[in-house]
Amino acid sequence: MTEQVIYPVQPGQKTKLNNAQYQAMYAESLRDPEGFWQQQAQRIEWKKPFSKVKDVSFAKEDLHIRWFEDGELNVTESCLDRHLDKHGDDVAIIWEPDDESQVARRITYRELSKEVNQLANGLRDLGVKKGDVVTIYMPMVPEASMAMLACARIGAIHSVVFGGFSPEALAGRIEDGNCHYVITANEGVRAGKIVPLKENVDAAINLCKSDQVKKVVVLNHTGNACTMEVGRDEDYRQLVDKQDSECQAEVMNAEDPLFILYTSGSTGKPKGVLHTCGGYLVYASMTHEYIFDYERGDVYWCAADVGWITGHSYIVYGPFANGATVVMYEGVPTHPDCGRVARIVDKHQINILYIAPTAIRALMSDGDEPVEGASLESLRLLGTVGEPINPEAWRWYYRTFGRSQCPIVDTWWQTETGAALITPLPGATDLKPGSATRPFFGIEPALVDEKGNELSGATSGNLIIKDSWPGQMRTVFGDHQRFIDTYFSTFEGTYFTGDGAKRDEDGYFWITGRVDDVLNVSGHRMGTAEIESALVAHEAVSEAAVVGFPHDVKGQGIYVYVTLNHDVQASPAIRNDLINWVRKEIGPIASPDIIQWAPGLPKTRSGKIMRRILRKIATDEYDQLGDISTLADPSVVESLIQEHQALT
Ligand code: WTA
Repeated sequence: MTEQVIYPVQPGQKTKLNNAQYQAMYAESLRDPEGFWQQQAQRIEWKKPFSKVKDVSFAKEDLHIRWFEDGELNVTESCLDRHLDKHGDDVAIIWEPDDESQVARRITYRELSKEVNQLANGLRDLGVKKGDVVTIYMPMVPEASMAMLACARIGAIHSVVFGGFSPEALAGRIEDGNCHYVITANEGVRAGKIVPLKENVDAAINLCKSDQVKKVVVLNHTGNACTMEVGRDEDYRQLVDKQDSECQAEVMNAEDPLFILYTSGSTGKPKGVLHTCGGYLVYASMTHEYIFDYERGDVYWCAADVGWITGHSYIVYGPFANGATVVMYEGVPTHPDCGRVARIVDKHQINILYIAPTAIRALMSDGDEPVEGASLESLRLLGTVGEPINPEAWRWYYRTFGRSQCPIVDTWWQTETGAALITPLPGATDLKPGSATRPFFGIEPALVDEKGNELSGATSGNLIIKDSWPGQMRTVFGDHQRFIDTYFSTFEGTYFTGDGAKRDEDGYFWITGRVDDVLNVSGHRMGTAEIESALVAHEAVSEAAVVGFPHDVKGQGIYVYVTLNHDVQASPAIRNDLINWVRKEIGPIASPDIIQWAPGLPKTRSGKIMRRILRKIATDEYDQLGDISTLADPSVVESLIQEHQALT
């Protein structure tokens, strides 16, 4: 049997748009961007209407990106206040705890709004002002979303740090953001295991300058005690309960910062991606509505963590602006067994499910067991995000969770893009497993060769975006030059994504993965440079080079070549030590999968490590090493191959 390549829109599928409508609206969005976005921007609440839609230049000498620049708003009025009159009793959050035997929480928009207002007042009491950066280091609990919205209410800039990051990584982000306030919890729970968040915060603060962190708000999530420093640490509940339930929303300019979120690039330390209020909310809410074909009353589950951009745009801002009912799950998809995701779907009668390919691959390794005994009848739409989905995983997801009836939206985007740029629209787009398909409204992707020449027709190349969209990042926090250098200098006058892609004869895009030194491990983005600098900070290590290799479940695994100092003997003990060291420096997500001892690394005569060669060795492609004669010492290649073969 030949495999089905195209999954056409199923007849009778009732969705917002059909293909002809998508085509017309897309054409219009490129023909008259100003008119198009003028109209679309009305989907959110403005305190003062804008008179100018767009002022953008991608030229590196004059780079600026402004949308709706003289408009004023507070995003929480779109996400909360405006729902209260008619929809205050609608459920905003259904929280599913890690422990299945605990009761789920249901929080209405009225309750959410009250708590956000109280917390916002509490933060103001502690001294937080408009423009201050507040670090949020929380487990997956409703209070994480509340903390983000409370910051937005008073114009503070939140910087959410994923709860799996180590104290070292947290400290780096606190210092880079020059942040004086932290919101955290005593502990998180994942797959039955306790995550000592407050302990990590204390350790991080010790690594920071002595006057860096002034106040820490601590939610007691698990009921266990934790150390509280008098004068610095505040109990979340006590702080919130004494506050008035109305908090005057700070008036924000459309281009004022809403949040920063750190992400990895190919060089240097993680950078603080900055998003602003107006454009981001317009774009996040619009994509959420069209891509998930969201209708009021639908129960929607995005299984990301709020620590990543997917959590920001599709657990918090997009869905709340649309008055959605959002399921938030505390734990891990395979806990306590592979049937958990399907049980959560049935229990909460979920209509829309959005998860990462790595979770799908982890589930499908148990055959059809993850869905056995489940009904799944409530589902009408599936989504994926974070990494390329292999067609096999796509088909499994479609057949099992989708019961061969639900479209899958494979959404391609990045922390930098704010929300999805290339994605199918249900009911409008025929699907091809593994393809993110076509651009969203207002998005003009193109493929270019190494020199920046635009390529036409069915081909592959570097993926760029030719013009701005409202949800685009505006700068790297504290380092605008880095913003220009990273995204607008490789292919001048365009935004460079760092991804490679293929375009087929139907104009569909197939993302092939990063073309730079960024890894995507289980949908988590990491820079090889970050892992390398963690490794060389270890006293036994002289040099390290990190590359990715294909991994069945994680998508990519982390392959490390390490040159030890002369006086250090390679041993299993030192190998373990290095793995633990990286976990401590960055977090468990950065654990190396394979460490190969490398007495020498392939370098050019100018001393640059040739990663291309190391990548080929890690993937057994010895016949594709290319020209190695330019290496300072070509003989290291042969010994690396031998060592690799002995290891794998
Ligand atoms: C990859 C996550 C293929 C891509 C929202 C991108 C994808 C990086 C997809 C951004 C997809 C994300 N298909 N690849 N549907 N979605 N990626 O910043 O390489 O954590 O550049 O944002 O993930 O990762 P980030």
